[in-house]
Amino acid sequence: MSKNKTLSAAKSAKNDEFYTQYADIQKEINAYLDYDPDTFMGKTVLLPCDDPEWSKFTRFFAENFERLGLKKLISTSYAAASKKFFNAETQRLGDGRAGAPRTPSWYQPTLFEQESPQFDEKKTAVRGKIFVLDHDTNANGRIDLDDLEWKYLEGDGDFRSEEVCKLRDEADVIVTNPPFSLFREFLAWILEGESLTQRRGEAESAEGVLAAKNAKGAKSVGRDDPIAPKQFLIIGNMNATTTKDVFPLFMRNDLWMGESIHSGDREFGVPKEYPLDAAGWRVDENGNHFIRVKGVRWFTNLEHGRRHQPLELMSMEDNIRYSKHKDLRGVGYRHYDNFDALDVPYTDAIPADYDGMMGVPVSFLDRYCPEQFEIVGITKTWFGAATKTYPEQVQVDANGTRKAVTKLNDGAVLKIDEPLHGATYYEIGDDKFIQTYPRILIRARRSK
Ligand SMILES: C[S@@+](CC[C@H](N)C(=O)[O-])C[C@H]1O[C@@H](n2cnc3c(N)ncnc32)[C@H](O)[C@@H]1O
Repeated sequence: MSKNKTLSAAKSAKNDEFYTQYADIQKEINAYLDYDPDTFMGKTVLLPCDDPEWSKFTRFFAENFERLGLKKLISTSYAAASKKFFNAETQRLGDGRAGAPRTPSWYQPTLFEQESPQFDEKKTAVRGKIFVLDHDTNANGRIDLDDLEWKYLEGDGDFRSEEVCKLRDEADVIVTNPPFSLFREFLAWILEGESLTQRRGEAESAEGVLAAKNAKGAKSVGRDDPIAPKQFLIIGNMNATTTKDVFPLFMRNDLWMGESIHSGDREFGVPKEYPLDAAGWRVDENGNHFIRVKGVRWFTNLEHGRRHQPLELMSMEDNIRYSKHKDLRGVGYRHYDNFDALDVPYTDAIPADYDGMMGVPVSFLDRYCPEQFEIVGITKTWFGAATKTYPEQVQVDANGTRKAVTKLNDGAVLKIDEPLHGATYYEIGDDKFIQTYPRILIRARRSK
């Protein structure tokens, strides 16, 4: 493997191994309950890529089983020996044949596991586990964490394995913080899951499902497919929003941002072996390690109130007169050179009275209210919408270095009158251009 590939593999392995804090899970789930106390009522919730011995999702859902009105809670864990993060320090198990399972030298089953009658020394590091909660096993009159039952899975608990796919198909709601390196694959995995609604097909027609959804407050706007897919609530990085496979889901209102995280960073637990080289790490009084991660968001198709609150915006005239942004105040907005839309560089500067297409920053998704705006496209991927193809350009970078490139076609372009100093611009003949950051193309919804 080349040095670069090794580094990026190490980075993604590292990014896969951090654990969500209880308070963050609680805050997010409470937002859905505030909106609709029956959000999880009678439902089977699956928490894949989890592990109650490490992480807090299972703990939260088990402790709140009755309050949420769950029918069944299932969580699965991924075998320690399969975790990429620990591969560097693994040792061979078994008879040492190529492909024999490996286990990290540090690996130590928890006391909880070792004291369970089903504990198996040969399986502990190489098999995933399944934890199920659906009845009061200890007959103490309530269903909670103490009633959680577990066994080893047949395989390592990979979410793509047949046995975990079956659990996905059984579930109504999937909740987790999946491995970041596999986020897009994980989301696709959820969406390809057979939905309960589809299985119930004969009993519930598509119209019936739509009517039921609309009766909840006519919240779903512009969906091409009115049948709810599986419901989900997963953590991912903001970077995923603009990708070819994820962005169309935002566009169709099949996916939106969760309620509670909209900026800044969040703290996650990490294994003690995790290199604390990034800014913003902490070790608590019990020796637990934490890091702060930027750009984290909840991605969901569960309804919550916040996304139906429209942005409060000023008219175009007022923005130009009073905007807090120096580059707009007294200056105004510009149109793209390669698409018929107005460039709006700040979400809070969207002009309330503009009826045409606008390009807004990706962070708009944090404030997107589907009753207020329609998402029409994205300038990064374009989906064929750009109205111009530029020939090769000369890129002039901040130091004045010149280079032939073809990058302009990858995004929204603004024409400029004068060369820039200390910032990159592009030249084609005598014309000069800059490229904006990726923009989401939106249009106001006006009631007819
Ligand atoms: C970002 S961590 C989050 C863990 C837990 N859900 C939480 O939030 O506390 C993702 C977990 O998925 C595990 N994982 C990695 N690849 C996996 C796969 N293919 N199938 C299932 N789990 C996997 C990682 O080992 C890691 O424990």
